[in-house]
Amino acid sequence: MPLLIKNGEIVTADSRARADIFCEGETITRIGAGLEAPPGTRVIDASGKYVFPGFIDPHVHITLPFMGTLAKDTYETGSRAALVGGTTTLIEMCCPSRSEDALAGFEHWMAQAAGRSACDFTFHMGATRFDAKAESELREIVRRGISSFKVFLAYKGAFGIDDTELYRTLALARELGVVVTAHCENETLVAERQKELLAAGKTDPGQHHESRPPAVEAEGVHHLMTFAEMTGAHAYIVHLSCKRALDEALAARRRGVRVSIETLIQYLVLDKTFAERPGFEGAKYVMSPPLRDKSNQAVLWNGLRDGFIQTVATDHAPFDFEGQKRMGAADFTKIPNGIPSLEERINLMYTCGVLAGRIDLHTLVNVASTQVAKTFDLFPRKGAIQPGADADLVVFDPDYRGFISSKTHHMNVDYSAFEGWKIMGRPSAVTVRGELAVLDGRFVGAPDRGRFLKRAPSRA
Ligand code: URP
Ligand code: ZN
Ligand code: ZN
Repeated sequence: MPLLIKNGEIVTADSRARADIFCEGETITRIGAGLEAPPGTRVIDASGKYVFPGFIDPHVHITLPFMGTLAKDTYETGSRAALVGGTTTLIEMCCPSRSEDALAGFEHWMAQAAGRSACDFTFHMGATRFDAKAESELREIVRRGISSFKVFLAYKGAFGIDDTELYRTLALARELGVVVTAHCENETLVAERQKELLAAGKTDPGQHHESRPPAVEAEGVHHLMTFAEMTGAHAYIVHLSCKRALDEALAARRRGVRVSIETLIQYLVLDKTFAERPGFEGAKYVMSPPLRDKSNQAVLWNGLRDGFIQTVATDHAPFDFEGQKRMGAADFTKIPNGIPSLEERINLMYTCGVLAGRIDLHTLVNVASTQVAKTFDLFPRKGAIQPGADADLVVFDPDYRGFISSKTHHMNVDYSAFEGWKIMGRPSAVTVRGELAVLDGRFVGAPDRGRFLKRAPSRA
């Protein structure tokens, strides 16, 4: 059915105008004032509301075997939660273990998503081992429509690779024009600090950030930057959390290293005192890199405002408090890492960022949609409101007032890190390629609407 969104204020990364949007098939076909709706058109009145391009989360985990357990969401639950929160495209980390082959891993991750996702999706392909077989399979995976890899400088023995593998992965990426996303923490420093803390009887969740201080992340970033410089690859630092790591990345950029930087909504609104909460409550706030001193938040918001940081993701990794986080009750190193946030990213950025005067609406759209699409070869199909773009649209009601709660969220996880937080504004309607998926906080879409987005490398 054709779709007409009337009377909204269209806000993109670089423009703002009151106009109607007409969509036919799966794409936007016309934008203008006073557009007529042919018979059979679904009309959404967006008076008093913003219309944004569908948001893209560049870093999520749905299928995630990790730290002896499995992340809780499936594509059924995760894609609905994403859509209710205004995210219409997911980029998931495909993370086979070192003992698994890349192609088998890719096919496994794809099987979890295909036909089960309500929103569109693609993957960053984890290069968790690099040998001749892995290289030829990574080449094949790029031919199948993947244009970004993922490497871990941490989690040795699970996903982590050594320096030879890192060098060769980056060299392959440079040859193929693929961007390499990277988790930057020095694994040896983490392991040594963890041993020291446990030996001193320090076992509570608040020790997690003591084991991975900013220097550990800054060293990881510096390390990656050196390898990116030597190979000429385009690197993308995932979940950058603090000033010290940002300084390393910006120093590399100044000397010509091709680097994009992602931060997370968690680092923008939470700080390490949450992980220090008593009674094991802090376990809800254990993730890696860890939550930091509050002083880093202004640095990150300003980095987004000034264009030094390119994107905001969630690194959604949902583990229940009961049964999963509690695995680390006697040892913080056994708490599964992750703070579920897939559903809350845009509402929190609007409430805590735009309304608080830290970023403007264009920056919100840019870092949570347009710049993601540009970095990962999805633009202008995604991340844009223009004729020919996919009709992924978010009608956002700035007058909505409500509260976040695990009792009402759509993520399949038993707690919210933002329980009771007030939200000022939320998506009132969300479309996926022209079909209505969300109305007033309820998922009303087709559970299998989502498609795999083939991407071609553009950095050769
Ligand atoms: O704590 C985190 N970030 N969990 C997910 C895995 C990762 O490192 O991205
Ligand atoms: Zn990571
Ligand atoms: Zn991650």
